[in-house]
Amino acid sequence: MLQIKRAGHSTLTTPDIERMIDYFTRIVGLSLAAREKNRAILATKSGVEAIVLERGSAVEAPRLSFQVAPGSDLGEVAARLKKAGLASERRTDITPGIGEALAFKDPKGTTLEIFSDFAFSPEDPNFTGVMPLKFGHIAYQCPDVEGVVKFYCDTLGFRVSDWRSDFFAFLRCSRDHHTVNFLRNAQVAIHHVAFEVRDWSDIKRACDLLARNGIKLTWGPIRHIIGHNIAVYHKNPDGVTIEFFCDMDQMFDEELGFFEPRPWHQDRPQRPKVWGDETPSNWWGPMSHHGTAAPKPAGEPAATTVQPRAPAHAPARRRDAQKKSPSKGRPPR
Ligand SMILES: [Fe+2]
Repeated sequence: MLQIKRAGHSTLTTPDIERMIDYFTRIVGLSLAAREKNRAILATKSGVEAIVLERGSAVEAPRLSFQVAPGSDLGEVAARLKKAGLASERRTDITPGIGEALAFKDPKGTTLEIFSDFAFSPEDPNFTGVMPLKFGHIAYQCPDVEGVVKFYCDTLGFRVSDWRSDFFAFLRCSRDHHTVNFLRNAQVAIHHVAFEVRDWSDIKRACDLLARNGIKLTWGPIRHIIGHNIAVYHKNPDGVTIEFFCDMDQMFDEELGFFEPRPWHQDRPQRPKVWGDETPSNWWGPMSHHGTAAPKPAGEPAATTVQPRAPAHAPARRRDAQKKSPSKGRPPR
């Protein structure tokens, strides 16, 4: 088994690479670290590569990179993959920052690029856009969520943070509650791409900046229940849902087995679990998706503690929920 430490970058294909470079630099606030004829490498202002754009006819996320421990011998990593039945290919052209990587496909067909060492991008003096701290997570839709989760845990060393019923999985490879999500659906597709920002004031600044540029929020600001991150969502010019978030649950100590306690948690302690199908998508903020029952406003006496918590404590109903269609009437998480 490998032990992934963090997500590197997501490769996104786009029919209009110039438009997407403009969006990711001017709105999201990434730096254009490198530009080639048919691709562009975008990094955070701190110099960590986050997104690779490639010219393509469809809007997809065909590749995702992950870092293993610095100094790891990729030959030894390849041998471990081979032992797990995976043929990997050594690549040297991933990004300017990643000299060498091993590439292989996960069960849903996404190419994973495993690297151990990387170089920071050149400094960018332009402070523009939202300027996220990092590429936080990517959520994919795929038909066999359980199979993909098993692969990520058994082969890549991910841990399951939470499930929503049996159709939406949240996996961590670090302290962060989730770095990848898998949502059951018939077709493999991007569900959303998320960037971490510093705090609530950066969320507010992001909302103002999006509004100034005529980009509507599609959801939020909210605080989720699963993961407990504060989040806002919008669609980028290619129609991909982009999330900015902060305050995500942190598993500081795997041996303790609970997320760092927070006053807004539903459980004490808050451990990884299967959340009932009826769990509201968010703790506060507009419940804008598919008529999911919202918690009562906090100002209403009966709702301040008991009613909002009831769904969150509901027993898992994974098998019952399996019979339901995942594509209808579902909240996005
Ligand atoms: Fe997300």
